[in-house]
Amino acid sequence: MCGIVGYVGGQQAAPILLEGLTKLEHRGYDSAGVAVLGGSGVKVAKQAGRVRDLTDGLPKRFGGKVGIGHTRWATHGPANDVNAHPHTDAAGKVAVVHNGIIDNAAILRERLADRGVELLSDTDTEVLAHLVAASTADTLEGKVTDALAAIHGTYGIAVMHADFPDRLVVARNGSPLIIGVGDKEMYVASDLAALVRHTTTVAHLEDGELATVTSTGFTTYREDPGVPVDSGAKRGNSWGGMTSTGKEETTLDIDPADYDAGEHASYMRKEILEQPDAAERVLRGRLDERFGTAHLGGLNMDARDTRAIRRVKVLGCGSAYYVGQMGAALVEELARIPADAEAASEFRYRNPIIEPDTLYVAVSQSGETIDTLLAVQEIRRKGGRVIGLVNVVGSAIARECDGGIYLHAGPEVAVASTKALTNMFVGFALLALQLGRVRDLSIADGKRLISGLLALPGQIAEILEREDELADVAVQLAEADSLFFVGRVRGFPVAREGAQKFKEISYRHAEAYQTSELKHGPLALISPEVPTVAVVPEDELTDRNVGALHEIAARRGPLVVVTHKGVDLGDVEATRIDVPRNERELDPILLTLPLQLLAYHAARHLGHDIDKPRNLAKSVTVE
Ligand code: AGP
Repeated sequence: MCGIVGYVGGQQAAPILLEGLTKLEHRGYDSAGVAVLGGSGVKVAKQAGRVRDLTDGLPKRFGGKVGIGHTRWATHGPANDVNAHPHTDAAGKVAVVHNGIIDNAAILRERLADRGVELLSDTDTEVLAHLVAASTADTLEGKVTDALAAIHGTYGIAVMHADFPDRLVVARNGSPLIIGVGDKEMYVASDLAALVRHTTTVAHLEDGELATVTSTGFTTYREDPGVPVDSGAKRGNSWGGMTSTGKEETTLDIDPADYDAGEHASYMRKEILEQPDAAERVLRGRLDERFGTAHLGGLNMDARDTRAIRRVKVLGCGSAYYVGQMGAALVEELARIPADAEAASEFRYRNPIIEPDTLYVAVSQSGETIDTLLAVQEIRRKGGRVIGLVNVVGSAIARECDGGIYLHAGPEVAVASTKALTNMFVGFALLALQLGRVRDLSIADGKRLISGLLALPGQIAEILEREDELADVAVQLAEADSLFFVGRVRGFPVAREGAQKFKEISYRHAEAYQTSELKHGPLALISPEVPTVAVVPEDELTDRNVGALHEIAARRGPLVVVTHKGVDLGDVEATRIDVPRNERELDPILLTLPLQLLAYHAARHLGHDIDKPRNLAKSVTVE
């Protein structure tokens, strides 16, 4: 969603800000703007549309070595030039960029209007600029603190002020903010992607913290600018020694090239092709072949804690929720612990009962998804134990959890998640293995699963080699306005994920159903114009699945069947996609892989902007 960049140092700020905004484009936005502070005060350039348009239209004289920039995702008021950030006060001395939502903006707008302040935009953010300007505090830190005291809601903000030209003041409450440490220059961003070309030494702000950033360093504090925040871990939640939290600067092991699509037509394709390596990384050092188990030190749980778990509840949104369903099935099958998955976006609204012997698992690529984060906070408030399956190290969800498994998929830029989801599945398999082996899963079965896991990267590569064949199938599917994706039991979350990927980037109506439910309603829609992609693994349900294929074929519904070699589809006319067999518990992820390529090539055939699908953002950080 919205993105923030900021700079203080010896260089001209505008090119750095614009380049940073380009790196945030994948998050989704509808307008962009920058403000710099130079000899003649604050200058602002902002407009609806792309960062490219903003760059092209930038005034010639736009100098300043302090600056802030923003990509906006409209929440209050339409996407237009006036509503774009940065917002300024009436005197044009204060400039503010903001991610999040100010809940009491309407009241504050009224109060400001009563005081004779003319509000130019429809946004909630503009009130912040006026509140900072109105504060009588004699420091920028004091003015920002005063302004924040008046607002309720979520924010990541960066503020600059013509009277304090050496600094930015930033603050965070619910929307991520990272400070990047350079050599006599400092950066601010809402997402690492905007920083990595300049620095990988960063500090993450916590909720409720502010920071003053100058060219030589930064200081963090809560409300009172005189009281610095302690450095060091906020909570004992280092996951296997891989991260530090709090105000320590952390140098991240990141290759800036990971944020570059290189020769690939899109990030999504690059990330699809990276899956064999990514899957290898998530397994590295986590398999104990001798005892047929997994070694997950980051869970921060000993065998006794693990043994005491009576139920597992997985929470995630969108695709992370669907993989969560695959993961819950793995836990039930391997550990025989009752497990289910629920959309994190719904969870806390039903006043959930939090049980001490339930293990809650939050799944998220970004570690920022607000619904998942709030679900984690609700559980912790009620005394529950939450672990995270998270890709982004040090992200809000990772920091909030009691422990977890980092996914090591590497940066995922495309909105449509692929490699992170594959690693989520593998992460669940590791968790299920560890939970299973302190219960009734035999050492032989543990070893069987480990062989299956070790075979996965090679089998994923095998499927990806058939890209051309899958592209042909995708082109046919792209012609349909509406499609079904169907599967049963283990295959149903696969169908859900397949439909999700397809609709996200091809904009075709793709609906997932349990194959068993077809004749309870949706069969009425089957016709030669409505293709079905059916997931039919070789398992105890193959015959029943094939029966359903006959019913679809009898209604002349075109069929694409993702299956295993040797599965007999009878005389059903279908385009067949065979995937390699693994252990049956691990099959779902291999059945999912071709569906990614079907979605990708359908969208490509239709000429869509694959990495930035309409109306969608990479990280959903507002409710
Ligand atoms: C995946 O293709 C989607 N873009 C989306 O459903 C995503 O999985 C969801 O928003 C959750 O994101 P997260 O993994 O970063 O929490």
